[in-house]
Amino acid sequence: MLLPTTLDTHARRDLAPMDTAFEAFRQAYPAFDTTRQLDELRATEYARLDRQGHTYLDYTGGGLYAESQLRDHLALLSDGVFGNPHSKNLTSMATTQLVEQVRDSVLRYFNASPDEYLVIFTPNSTGALKLVGESYPFGPDDTYLLTFDNHNSVNGIREFARAKGATVTYVPIVPPDLRVAEDDLSRALACAQPGHNNLFAYPAQSNFTGVQHPLEWIAESQAKGWDVLLDAASFAPTNRLDLSRWQPDFVDISFYKIFGYPTGTGCLLVRKTAAHKLRRPWYAGGTITFSSVVAFDHYLTPGPAGFEDGTVNYLSLPAVEIGLKYIESIGIDLIHTRVMCLTGWLLDQLLSLHHSNGRPVIRLYGPPTTDQRGGTIQVNFLDQSDRLIDCNEVERLANAEHISLRAGCHCNPGAREVALGFTREQLVACFRDKERLTFEQFLHVIDGKTTGALRASIGLATNFADVYRYVQFAKTFLDKSM
Ligand SMILES: Cc1ncc(COP(=O)(O)O)c(C=O)c1O
Repeated sequence: MLLPTTLDTHARRDLAPMDTAFEAFRQAYPAFDTTRQLDELRATEYARLDRQGHTYLDYTGGGLYAESQLRDHLALLSDGVFGNPHSKNLTSMATTQLVEQVRDSVLRYFNASPDEYLVIFTPNSTGALKLVGESYPFGPDDTYLLTFDNHNSVNGIREFARAKGATVTYVPIVPPDLRVAEDDLSRALACAQPGHNNLFAYPAQSNFTGVQHPLEWIAESQAKGWDVLLDAASFAPTNRLDLSRWQPDFVDISFYKIFGYPTGTGCLLVRKTAAHKLRRPWYAGGTITFSSVVAFDHYLTPGPAGFEDGTVNYLSLPAVEIGLKYIESIGIDLIHTRVMCLTGWLLDQLLSLHHSNGRPVIRLYGPPTTDQRGGTIQVNFLDQSDRLIDCNEVERLANAEHISLRAGCHCNPGAREVALGFTREQLVACFRDKERLTFEQFLHVIDGKTTGALRASIGLATNFADVYRYVQFAKTFLDKSM
């Protein structure tokens, strides 16, 4: 029997129907059987999930760590004596060596040549994005172009651009799939100012809709005079990012999203041909080779260290190498295959749910098939009169079933505004009297009830029982009225 063996009591109740559903799933998604290694890991490395009856469906929020990652990290720390880097004493040099080893392992993982890319360690993706925002040489006549579909940490770069007089332009996304229309993109890309700094930012995978925006845009926009910032935070955990094939100028990564542990570590990958453009607005301990109070000047350390303020997270960074090796031992393509099988089935099931009067139980925001999308499924639940049920209430009900979903806008206001159909008038009104408007009033102006949507995201430790339980939960909304 291929069913996961460690089901909690809650799931056992539904074992017979789950068995049948699982067989139908295997028929529909035969590639799933090639990923059975991950069911074994679920039972060993992630046993805590089933032991505690958790259905974890928030991998875009954060990945889960394997127990062996913790053991390997503990063993390394227990055996080593590591001092603060930036010195030539023995324990300091041991740390420097370890940190440089991790840097090399990141380059190898993304198949990036050390001749072409630099790895700058940051606390997370946001830290990487901020480095680009504050260091990119925006000025008047320069442009920051970005898609509506972006995380706030990418949107926020517009404040650096605006402060330096650059033009900020958004490319829209179009319902129902919430992708960018190629015509709109072509028009926007044609606006690069020759001889000026033009930065184009987009997510390889939307953290709101799961849409995978084409990686082909990278070379296309570079050819038209753009530097490209690819936000790979939600793409990297379940997709191969091969930097020998795709060569964005800047890429941000949060490691905890890929393998769960450690938090507080991320990186900015910078293409060397673009690195010379970045100008740090300040310097700090660790980033300079020499500075003088009397002479009022400093020399920035060349290479990544010039961007790593203060002391890097040197005891956690070795756990990044452990995490990357762990993912490599499974294979990111295998993880991808599994996630897409489970995503396809979950989409099919949720979209097939209808109240007795024929109306749908969910409204999906994003593509309805697995074509050019990842394992993030964003929905709102509808009662039998087609009224949206507050996503926060649904999240609360899911909690009672030990299902971790995520309600809200997921720091992606552009995707939310288009998905939920907020008008420009509504949104502009929210900012008219900023001093007085509380967040609750802001939500009220927008809608009064529906502030976002409910995200399920699938990752490397997800099994069939997890998505099955979510569908069972979704069925509890059948014929509901508010
Ligand atoms: C697409 C995307 N970009 C950037 C971020 C920011 O990541 P972090 O909060 O780890 O800095 C996230 C976080 O969810 C994300 O999903």
